[in-house]
Amino acid sequence: MHSRTSHPLALPVGTTLDRYIMNRQYAFAYATGELSQLLRDIALAGKIINREINRAGLIDLTGGIGAQNVQGENQQKLDVIADIRFERALKNGGEVCAIISEEEEEIIFTGNNHAKYVVAIDPLDGSSNIDVNVSIGTIFSIYRRVTPIGTEPTMDDFLQGGHEQVAAGYILYGSSTILVYTTGHSVNGFTYDASLGEFILSHPDLQSPADGTIYSCNDGNADLYEEPVRAYLADCRKKQYTGRYIGSLVADFHRNLLKGGIYLYPPTPKNPEGKLRLLYECYPLAFIAERAGCRAVTRTESILDIKPDSVHQRTPIFMGAPKMVDDLLSRF
Ligand code: AHG
Ligand code: MN
Ligand code: MN
Repeated sequence: MHSRTSHPLALPVGTTLDRYIMNRQYAFAYATGELSQLLRDIALAGKIINREINRAGLIDLTGGIGAQNVQGENQQKLDVIADIRFERALKNGGEVCAIISEEEEEIIFTGNNHAKYVVAIDPLDGSSNIDVNVSIGTIFSIYRRVTPIGTEPTMDDFLQGGHEQVAAGYILYGSSTILVYTTGHSVNGFTYDASLGEFILSHPDLQSPADGTIYSCNDGNADLYEEPVRAYLADCRKKQYTGRYIGSLVADFHRNLLKGGIYLYPPTPKNPEGKLRLLYECYPLAFIAERAGCRAVTRTESILDIKPDSVHQRTPIFMGAPKMVDDLLSRF
């Protein structure tokens, strides 16, 4: 006999993101619901972008806009659209007083000076993959502001350091769309069910393997890496590890998180500080990585220990299964 709640003809849908967020909020006596609302605002913008990505080839959303962003990179139409979608969602949501986006040089003031959170965001990660139907993503990081509520936010609100993140997450627009986030405790993944318009808890309490056999880097740059990194990669090849590199950080990160692997973006002569941005790429993923049992480092320190001095700064990064990261570091 099947019970009516677990009958195979009517399996439960599972826990929606909204329900999960509310349950977490109730678990904290002093939670006011603002962070919950902010996470829901991000999820809503993610749904809208997901819709636009899925239709991009049909409604002329592929290709560049003929301008460059603050990083000197060619902006794609979807970079700009995703930036606008998040900016609007966070402004209208009312819980955020300022935003730092990869696509904008200056702080974006939302006008909500009574809000207590700021957000750093890479609205669309992996832009070179947009036009070729390959996975792309969004990465976000949330801080509680340090400037007084009611005043205009400043750079200080964003330059607090990785350990001060209140929450961090990403959305991967892949073979399915998944939102993964942590508020500093467990890491949880919610797969999007487009027919319901809901993210459903699919990956509770994600823990990454302690070791792995996948290495991910842009192999075309490998001759430019420092000798210890080249030696480590030579060893990976000798052991016949698996080389996997999508070129969308979110997608490479997510795969390695689930399967066990190491992601490398070392310094090169062209990018002596590496390529990836600290505030809205490395800090949030490092925060998630550490909560899921991984390590995220430069050759000298943990990513989360880096003291930031500018909002668009870059950092080299080695991130993934702790045994692989330790092995790499032992070569320096
Ligand atoms: P973005 O599209 O947000 O500018 O990020 C691109 C980043 C990252 O997603 C990816 O892992 C990396 O650039 C790829 O760089 P290379 O092409 O140099 O390998
Ligand atoms: Mn990016
Ligand atoms: Mn981007």
